Amino acid sequence: MMSLTATITCRVAFGKRFEGNEFDEGKFQEVVNEAMAMLGSFSASNFFPYVGWIVDKLTGHHDRLERSFHDLDGFYQQVIDQHLDTKETKHEEEQNIIDMLLKLERNQTEIDAVQFTQNHIKAILTCFKNIFLGGVETSAITVVWAMAELIRNPRAMKKSQEEIRNCVGNKGEVDEGDIEQLKYLKMVVKETLRLHPPAPLLVPREAMSHFKINGYDTYPKTQVHVNAWAIQRDPDIWTSPEEFVPERFEDESIDFNGQNYELLPFGSGRRGCPGVYMGLSTVELALANLLYCFDWKLPNGLKEEDVNMEEEAGITVYKKLPLNLVPVKYITGLSKMK
Ligand code: HEM
Repeated sequence: MMSLTATITCRVAFGKRFEGNEFDEGKFQEVVNEAMAMLGSFSASNFFPYVGWIVDKLTGHHDRLERSFHDLDGFYQQVIDQHLDTKETKHEEEQNIIDMLLKLERNQTEIDAVQFTQNHIKAILTCFKNIFLGGVETSAITVVWAMAELIRNPRAMKKSQEEIRNCVGNKGEVDEGDIEQLKYLKMVVKETLRLHPPAPLLVPREAMSHFKINGYDTYPKTQVHVNAWAIQRDPDIWTSPEEFVPERFEDESIDFNGQNYELLPFGSGRRGCPGVYMGLSTVELALANLLYCFDWKLPNGLKEEDVNMEEEAGITVYKKLPLNLVPVKYITGLSKMK
C-alpha cells in the first residue's frame, strides 16, 4: 500500500515512479518510514534548547536525524538528476513542480538579486516533503486498517463487495467515475477513519492567549495536543464506539470538513489537512479495486477474532503487525482482468 500511495504521489508531484535504482520502492519506503519515525520521536533539544543537544548526541538521536536528512537529500538529488537527464522538451501541461523549479534556475541572470540553486530546490522540496510524507503514509495506513476491519466483519465486506460489483459490472476495474455511486464504500472509509485516525493527535498547536477549558488554565505558548482518537471513540458521543459499524453514517450528516468536532481524522481549522480530497480519492479507489477484483480470506485457518489489531505508536499510527490475507481472484463475469 505504501508503494502504491508513494507512486501515486510521486507521479502527481514528480511526474515519475521510483523503481530500478537506488531509490527502489523498498529503500524509498525505508526512508519515508524513518523520516516519519524521526518526526514523531522525542528530541531533548526541542524541550531544552541549550543543553538538550548533548542528550541527543549521547542517545544517538542526533546521528539518526542526520542520517535521515542525508537519505532524504539523496532522494531529492536523484529526483533533480532524473529531470536533468531528460533530453526531450516537455509541453507546458506535462511539466511538474521540479521542471518548473529547474526552469527558474536555468533562466535566472547574474543580476538577479537572489541566486536560485539546486539547494533552494531541495529546500522547497523539503516543504513539499511534509506534504509528501503527510499524504503517502496516511492514505496507505487507512487502506490497511479498512481491510483489517472488513476481514473481521464479513457482513460489511460482503455488502461492500456487492455494492461495488453491482455498480461496476464487468468493466474489469473501478475507476474514479464509479466512486460517487459507492455510498457504502464511503461509509466504510468514514468508519475506518473514525476508529483508526492515522494521525490520532493531529498536529500540535500552540496557545496564542490564555484560556480555560474544563477548569484547566492554558497559558500562551503552551503546546496543545487534540486527541482525535479518544474523541472518535467517546461513548458519550458514539453508540457502541469500539464496534465497526459503517451504517452509523447512513442518516448522519457528520462529515470530515472540520466542522463536526466529533469526527476529526483530517483535523480542523487553519492547520487542517489540505490533502483531504486527494487522500480520500486515493483510499476509496485503492480499496474499491481490492474489493472488486478479489475475494479475501484469512490464511492458515485463522479466525476473524484472531486478527491482531494492535497499533504501533508514532506521529502516525499504523498496524503493529502486518495484515496477511489471501486474495482469491474474482473472475466470474469479468471480461478483462488486469
Ligand atoms: C487518508 C488520508 C489523510 C489523512 C487521514 C490525513 C490527516 C491529516 C491530519 C490529521 C493532519 C493534521 C490536521 C490538524 O492538525 O488539524 C494533516 C495535515 C496535513 N496533511 Fe494530511 N491526511 C491525509 C492525506 C493527505 C494528503 C494526500 C496530503 C497531500 C498530498 C496531505 C497533506 C497534509 C499536509 C501538508 C498537512 C499539514 C498542514 C499544516 O500543517 O498546516 N494529507 N493531515
